[in-house]
Amino acid sequence: MARNKITAPRIVEMKREGVPIAALTAYDATFAAVQDKAGLDIILVGDSAGMVVAGDPDTLSITLDEMIFLCRNASRGVKHALLVGDMPFGSAQLSTEATISAAVRFMKEGRAEAVKVEGAGPALAAIRRMTAMGIPIMGHLGLTPQSVNSFGGYGLRGATDIEAQRIRDDALALQDAGVFSIVLEKIPIELARVVTEDLDVPTIGIGAGPHCDGQILVSYDMFGLGPKFRFVRRYLEGDRLIDGAVRKYIEDVRNRDFPSEDESFAG
Ligand code: KIV
Repeated sequence: MARNKITAPRIVEMKREGVPIAALTAYDATFAAVQDKAGLDIILVGDSAGMVVAGDPDTLSITLDEMIFLCRNASRGVKHALLVGDMPFGSAQLSTEATISAAVRFMKEGRAEAVKVEGAGPALAAIRRMTAMGIPIMGHLGLTPQSVNSFGGYGLRGATDIEAQRIRDDALALQDAGVFSIVLEKIPIELARVVTEDLDVPTIGIGAGPHCDGQILVSYDMFGLGPKFRFVRRYLEGDRLIDGAVRKYIEDVRNRDFPSEDESFAG
C-alpha cells in the first residue's frame, strides 16, 4: 500500500487520532532504508550513536559534524518516515544563535526534517525561535543522557514529587515553545501518563511505560546487539545470530568451502 510521507504535523495529528507512533533510531543508509520500508513513523539519528556506533561510554563526545555525517547518510535511506536529527551535547547549550546555527546545519547538510533537543529551561528561547523559523523541534525530558554527569548515572528520573512536577512543567513549557513531540525517557509509568494527558502534542516514550502516544528504542538494542536493558524488548537476537554467521563463515573459509564455483567467475 502506498504510504504518505510522514511530517511533523502528521505526528501531532496521530495523537489526535489515537494512532500510536512507532519510532526507532538509525545511523546509516542501509539500516534506515530497511526500517523505513517496514513502516516506521519516525527515524531518529540519535546521539546514542556515540555509544552504539562510536563505542564511547556516553553520548557526550560525539560532535555536530559527526552527527550531521550520520544524518546525511541515513537520509539517503529514508523515504517515508520523518527524519529527526539529535542535537549533540554542546550544540544546543551555548547560546540561542549557536543553537539555531547548529539546527540549520543539521537540516541543510544532514537533510534532517526536524531536530531533537534535550532538556527545557536554557534551551527554551532557542526552541521558540527555531519553531518560529519553521524548524520542527522534538523535546526530550526525564533521563536526558547528556546530563549523565549531573544525574550521577542512568537511573530513573521523576521519582520524587519535586522532580515529577518539574518534568510536567517543562513539558508544558516545551509545548508552549512550539515542539511537535516530546521524548520521555526512563520515568515512572504514572508520570508518563499524566504528562501525556497534560499535552496536546504527542509523547514518545523510552522506558516510560505504555501510556505514551508513541514508543522509541535504540535500534541496536531492539536488534539484540549489545547489553540488555529492562525497558527494551529484543526483536532479534542480533549478537547470537551475527556471532553464528561469522563463525560459520570462518569455518567455510578454513575448509575451502567458500567460495564455491557458483560464487566465482570463470573468466
Ligand atoms: O540518542 C538517542 O538514541 C535518543 C533516543 C534514545 C530517544 O535520544
